Amino acid sequence: MATESSTHRPPVVLGIETSCDETGVALVNAERRVLADLLNSQLDRHAPYGGVVPEIAARAHVEILDLLIERAMREAGLTFRDLAGVAATAGPGLIGGLLVGLITAKAIAAVHRLPLLAINHLEAHALTARFVLGPRPEDRLEFPYLLLLVSGGHCQLLVVEGVGRYRRLGATLDDALGEAYDKAAKMLGLGFPGGPAVERAARVGDAARFSLPRPMLGQPGCNFSFSGLKTALRQTVERLGPRALEPPLLNDLCASFQAAVADVLLDRTRRAAELFRADYLSATTLVVAGGVAANAYLRACLARLAEELDLRLIVPPPALCTDNGIMVAWAGLERLALGLTDDLAAHARARWPLDPAAEPAPGAGVKA
Ligand code: KG4
Ligand code: ZN
Repeated sequence: MATESSTHRPPVVLGIETSCDETGVALVNAERRVLADLLNSQLDRHAPYGGVVPEIAARAHVEILDLLIERAMREAGLTFRDLAGVAATAGPGLIGGLLVGLITAKAIAAVHRLPLLAINHLEAHALTARFVLGPRPEDRLEFPYLLLLVSGGHCQLLVVEGVGRYRRLGATLDDALGEAYDKAAKMLGLGFPGGPAVERAARVGDAARFSLPRPMLGQPGCNFSFSGLKTALRQTVERLGPRALEPPLLNDLCASFQAAVADVLLDRTRRAAELFRADYLSATTLVVAGGVAANAYLRACLARLAEELDLRLIVPPPALCTDNGIMVAWAGLERLALGLTDDLAAHARARWPLDPAAEPAPGAGVKA
């Protein structure tokens, strides 16, 4: 029989993330309590290949997902019948991994008659800032807000108008920013994934040592491009020879690369903020999300920009910037609260833009 407290329990959603190389499983309730949070990184399996191998990723998700779900339920002391819904990333991402997560979620939803939430991975990144801020009214993050989304597959500036409502202001014309970091790291012999390694080396490097291009700086619009920067770095590394792979030049190259990235991000974000402010007069918040938002140097640069522009800046803690199950569970809760559930025929989508009305940016990101 239901007790007084059990009838008032906030809804709990199971979140499953399998779009790339992390298997994430989390249980989160509508009051922002995390009841379980498990993450299995496949890094060591992909590292020998210098990047994520889709078939290896899918197989690794299959091997571990059921175990993680079982463990999460046990840790939270819940049964499937206690859940209000099951959320899984349905795209964009590597199709094999997406299928593993989505089919698992469908099976649980079908057997236990629970609502299914087929989550857009980018939406999960986009809404994480609303999870991070506490439930107190003064902490709340209301729509609309400006979002700089920088991950391994994406680099976009968007207005988040509401759950499921996005307006893209700009996107990369070639590489995503995380991808550029990963390629820079690879050419410098820093291994995979490259973002954290480049950031670490840059910390002790001289950013003025090498003059690298700042693609799109000062150009109209809010698009990005990183392939020219990557090529310039490659040419510099080739010119320097093996010395480039050792400190101090290695650190100087990383610092110079990162300084160029920061200049581009700030220029593009400043432009987007102007457009955003013109259209949404009372809007005040800039959110940065996605794996690259874990970068402390870029966070500090963006904090200075936000202060200058008189914007409130919200960047989730690093563990919630990179892929995780919590963000999927939270996006599920947001959609569930609005009745935006999916039927069991929902399919996985390798490509799934947040703003389908926007012109596709030519070559936009690997997962756009
Ligand atoms: O959001 P995420 O975990 O996966 C995707 O949705 O793509 O982002 C992963 C990306 C990788 O390219 C990784 O190198 C980058 O985020 N990244 C970083 C840092 N931590 C992760 N890039 C720069 N600095 C970091 N500290
Ligand atoms: Zn991601």
